[in-house]
Amino acid sequence: MKTRAAVLHQVNSPFRIETVDLEAPRPGEVLVRVAAAGICHSDWHLVTGDTKHPLPVVAGHEGAGIVEAVGPGVRRVKPGDHVVLNWAPNCGECFYCLHDRPNLCETYVGPLWDGVMLDGTPRLSLNGQPVYHFSGLACFAEYTVVPEVSCIPIDRDFPLNIAALIGCAVTTGVGAAVNTVRVRPGSSVAVFGAGGVGLSIIMGAHLAGAGRIIAVDRAEAKRQIALDCGATDFLLAGADVNHEIRRLTAGRGADYVFEAIGIPAVQEQCLDAARPGGTIVLVGLSPMDSSTNLPGAIITRQEKTVIGSYYGTSNTARDFPLYADLYRQGKLGLDRLVSTTYTLDQINEAYADMLSGRIARGVIEF
Ligand SMILES: NC(=O)c1ccc[n+]([C@@H]2O[C@H](COP(=O)([O-])OP(=O)(O)OC[C@H]3O[C@@H](n4cnc5c(N)ncnc54)[C@H](O)[C@@H]3O)[C@@H](O)[C@H]2O)c1
Ligand SMILES: [Zn+2]
Ligand SMILES: [Zn+2]
Repeated sequence: MKTRAAVLHQVNSPFRIETVDLEAPRPGEVLVRVAAAGICHSDWHLVTGDTKHPLPVVAGHEGAGIVEAVGPGVRRVKPGDHVVLNWAPNCGECFYCLHDRPNLCETYVGPLWDGVMLDGTPRLSLNGQPVYHFSGLACFAEYTVVPEVSCIPIDRDFPLNIAALIGCAVTTGVGAAVNTVRVRPGSSVAVFGAGGVGLSIIMGAHLAGAGRIIAVDRAEAKRQIALDCGATDFLLAGADVNHEIRRLTAGRGADYVFEAIGIPAVQEQCLDAARPGGTIVLVGLSPMDSSTNLPGAIITRQEKTVIGSYYGTSNTARDFPLYADLYRQGKLGLDRLVSTTYTLDQINEAYADMLSGRIARGVIEF
């Protein structure tokens, strides 16, 4: 069949909307009609080349949709089911899955980073040439073929635009707070970067009962957005931010400092923003060839902890429905994340808006 998709042909070039060929699902694969796809910064890292990936690629890894057809042997879902797409599917059998770290599952990492399905081949092509799939999801397209293991069913009456954000930003951000470091009630939290991920960290910290939640962003437009999501304070990024964070935390620095941008210099600033004995959580994805200079002399003497958080230390089959329930109960205000909706044809505009810092999370609705 054919589908319209946003194709990235080379780094530092716009997405091009094209009609590409999409093969039918093979054994263990599912054809999904995409309903919504979030504008996550991780796709933008493909555009800048900060994340290396085979090209051309159909990006999009924060999505939800409706199962249109299934390949042979598929048992997990059937046509008509609504699904949230999981960009780090887990096998349930490898070392990491057996040690309660399914977000680090090693079984599918090879093919997913090669941009192909689990059997090593792509389903997408253009003029007979292969087009690669980002994270096995490639959901910047009207239709996509994904591995069965990437499909997490949700209730049919759950809003699919919110479901899409559960597929990445929400699970990454809320999970960083409640799973990776288990923010304690009453504690102080600083979050650098108030995009879809940082705002979700703020919501997760709020849910966990944090006391002060300080959002830091370079865009003034994020002030009201961050406060609406549960931040108690907003600071415009700049040289004196850590001084302000200490002023707001009895002179000590925050108990937990999250970096949700992906810039080594900001990660270094986060170490200084944490109090002695505090924890720095690296959530933003810095360029693959970059490194961060964190002084061991301070980490040791001040007993600071630096920890990475990938996909919110999630168990997606457990957490996607959990976050959906918390949304329905009014405990996670995920509506506040969906600030602007776009058509697929407006994808370059959507990314320009993300980079401008004037919106919470953009969502492509099909
Ligand atoms: N760890 C994971 O599993 C995971 C999952 C998803 C996304 N990510 C990464 O998290 C990061 C954030 O993603 P997002 O989709 O929320 O991005 P985003 O672009 O929506 O948000 C980034 C925010 O940071 C702000 N910002 C940029 N530079 C700044 C600076 N120097 N100082 C202060 N604020 C600054 C921007 O104004 C914006 O509000 C990205 O690196 C993304 O790739 C990581
Ligand atoms: Zn596994
Ligand atoms: Zn993402």
